[in-house]
Amino acid sequence: MPTDRILSFTVNGEPVRLLVEPAQTLLEVLRGPLRLTGTKHGCDVGDCGACTVLVDGAPRLSCITLAVGCEGARVETIEGVATPAGPDPIQAAFDHHVAAQCGYCTPGFVMTLRHLFAENPTANEAELREALGSNLCRCTGYTKILTAAREAQAIYAGKS
Ligand code: FES
Ligand code: FES
Repeated sequence: MPTDRILSFTVNGEPVRLLVEPAQTLLEVLRGPLRLTGTKHGCDVGDCGACTVLVDGAPRLSCITLAVGCEGARVETIEGVATPAGPDPIQAAFDHHVAAQCGYCTPGFVMTLRHLFAENPTANEAELREALGSNLCRCTGYTKILTAAREAQAIYAGKS
């Protein structure tokens, strides 16, 4: 029978070492023992994107990612996005364009966009929409989210 294991990884730049159950998801570990509740628990089956975090720089749905598979990984969550100087440009643009209503989906959108702008700073409209295709929002209708994303992209690119 599988037994609990010690997991060592970094979360938002901080080394973390804790005991996890073999079937525990990354989402459960983040929101449970690590108390990082900014990553949201939506559908729990990989459909909504609310639980998106970055693992070694790539977006991962933490609700369907086993924590034990993150041994040695670099995990980034929404809590690590803002700096003492202020919010990330994506967060600022969401605020500026009122692209969050209930806000439940917002951390997932922000993490997905951070990866997109790092990997493809000049993403065109189709690429932007494709990148966001796995993040669902039940409130905004997406128009404001896309507007905010374009504004943030311009700021990332130093064009604004
Ligand atoms: S909670 Fe993970 S994809 Fe919906
Ligand atoms: S703002 Fe409510 S789900 Fe997106």
